[in-house]
Amino acid sequence: MNDERVEARVRHWTPALRPLLDALYGSVTDVDALLDRTVGLACAAARSRRPALQALDARRETDPAWFQHSSMVGYVAYAELFGGTLKGVADRLDYLSELHVSYFHLMKVLRSREGANDGGYAVVDYRDVDPALGTWSDLEYVADELHERGVSLCLDVVMNHTAREHRWAELARGGSQRHRDYYLVYPDRTEPDRFEATLPEVFPEIAPGNFTWDPDLKGWVWTTFNTYQWDLNYANPDVLVEMLQVMLDLANAGVDVMRLDAVAFTWKRVGTNCQNQPEAHLIAQVYRALLAIAAPGVLMKAEAIVAPSDLLPYLGVHRLERPECHLAYHNQLMVMLWSSLASGDAGLAGAAMQALPPTPSSAGWVNYVRCHDDIGWAVSDADATAVGLSGPAHREFLARFYRGDFWQSFADGVPFSSNPDNGDERTCGTAAALCGVGKAARTGDPAALDLAVRRLELLYGVMFGFPGVPLVYMGDELALDNDAAYLADPSRADDSRWIHRPEMPWDLADRRTTVGSLQQRVFTYVQRLAATRVEHPALSAGGEVIIHRHADSAVFAWALHHPSLGRFYGLANFAARAATVPALALEWAGMSAPSVVLGAELLHRDHPANWTLDPYAVVWFVDDDDTVVQPTV
Ligand code: GLC
Repeated sequence: MNDERVEARVRHWTPALRPLLDALYGSVTDVDALLDRTVGLACAAARSRRPALQALDARRETDPAWFQHSSMVGYVAYAELFGGTLKGVADRLDYLSELHVSYFHLMKVLRSREGANDGGYAVVDYRDVDPALGTWSDLEYVADELHERGVSLCLDVVMNHTAREHRWAELARGGSQRHRDYYLVYPDRTEPDRFEATLPEVFPEIAPGNFTWDPDLKGWVWTTFNTYQWDLNYANPDVLVEMLQVMLDLANAGVDVMRLDAVAFTWKRVGTNCQNQPEAHLIAQVYRALLAIAAPGVLMKAEAIVAPSDLLPYLGVHRLERPECHLAYHNQLMVMLWSSLASGDAGLAGAAMQALPPTPSSAGWVNYVRCHDDIGWAVSDADATAVGLSGPAHREFLARFYRGDFWQSFADGVPFSSNPDNGDERTCGTAAALCGVGKAARTGDPAALDLAVRRLELLYGVMFGFPGVPLVYMGDELALDNDAAYLADPSRADDSRWIHRPEMPWDLADRRTTVGSLQQRVFTYVQRLAATRVEHPALSAGGEVIIHRHADSAVFAWALHHPSLGRFYGLANFAARAATVPALALEWAGMSAPSVVLGAELLHRDHPANWTLDPYAVVWFVDDDDTVVQPTV
């Protein structure tokens, strides 16, 4: 690597880095030494980066908005469930190309503990691939194969905790004080009880409490998630450095996007819920600067499933904007999609989405209908009150609706982590199951099945119409139903999230070309969404999202105004009946020469004053300039 370029990056990022390290560790260590140590590691990584990765960095440096282009389409899968092994994954990449995928999040790749491992989020070795999947060079091979096809690779950086069986934890248990200090260990209940007074529980049913007694440590160790996931102590600068090296190694294996797992939990403070502490942001900013020195083409994505006001800071929104993560999960959009579908009413979604602060122009969302985790019914009391609802009652309604409690409910979900103390209940189930596809198919009623598939298309149609990276969660493109096989596996049986983590049924996937099949209908629809997005740069991130509230509250309407790439308008009907919007809606949205690019067959002009939308219709309009060509990275 050309030293001058690395030096230039060091000169650019160091002035911001030093005060960050000082704020975090000034009272416990020599900050200049820490700066030298961390920058030294980043520079060493930069110099040992493979030429192909350096070329990718250079291309991305000339187009820093590369990840905001509408051509970004994501797919998420467990490596094992999708391809068996990493080589098997590489053999399936044509399938992703059919869906225009340009971003691939592979889960459970690094070596996790045997038995229960929280779906791979209990890592025992960050520098080793799960032996059942292959080797580190297989990981590099998959990354290279993806890059050949213009696809970025996203991997988890499980940064908040390690498995109890990680070498650091083993050493701590063996008596090493240095490694004991990597974790948060207390000799008795005094400190844990002080923290517990304000700490929520993440897994109240399967792992109550936030501390676990360890007989070897003779102490209580902090375990936010499961008892075998030990939280790391980021107040110790050695932990920051260790995790930096993990990220640098992943970047040099060819990982393009670091999914910062549970980043909100990385700093603890008594008297708080120990989430979203200011220091958690400083840590993310430190990693951003160091990764930018080592591998400027690499992105950071925040996995922070928190309230919108707490979320925006992960995208760098502070009193003054700061480079932090490039991407974050749009949990609010996901919850609002399901809320609107259950109620047949998008009033709450309109209000909640309108209340969101604007996204900084240099960052973006990853949008999703479902992921591998449960859905937490994150409807704020303020948003609910704004439309005349009660927050607690609506949250309870959603949990009950999706577990199929009402006769009107089409959904086939199962509860997760019910908490009798605060009435919270989360929901699991595949997207198709929650839309009622499986249930309808079992009745054999084609009209019911059609309606259920429309629901799935509606959610995907809205989600793909938002700026950011749309994520297809493995199997949704085939309308895969719930899979209860996990119940037979004792290491999974108590975690209902496995109901929506099926193995990829490739025989069923083959039916995507069988005319008239369910798989063909859904696959073709998702394919069309992706192809249409890719063609229309107006869907790129970096512009403004404006939510319109129409008198017919079944309608969710959103306009995108990109300063240079054009305009977009989306209309969605969340009711099982026809809905209307004023004929002038497009003019309100500032569209001067709109064309319908999706859902034209679902839109009618029955009356001069109105557009009519079919039940569950989603329609996209664009107003762009067909001379705009998106750069490819
Ligand atoms: C993230 C993961 C989730 C896991 C948790 C703890 O939220 O998405 O699956 O249980 O972190 O690592």
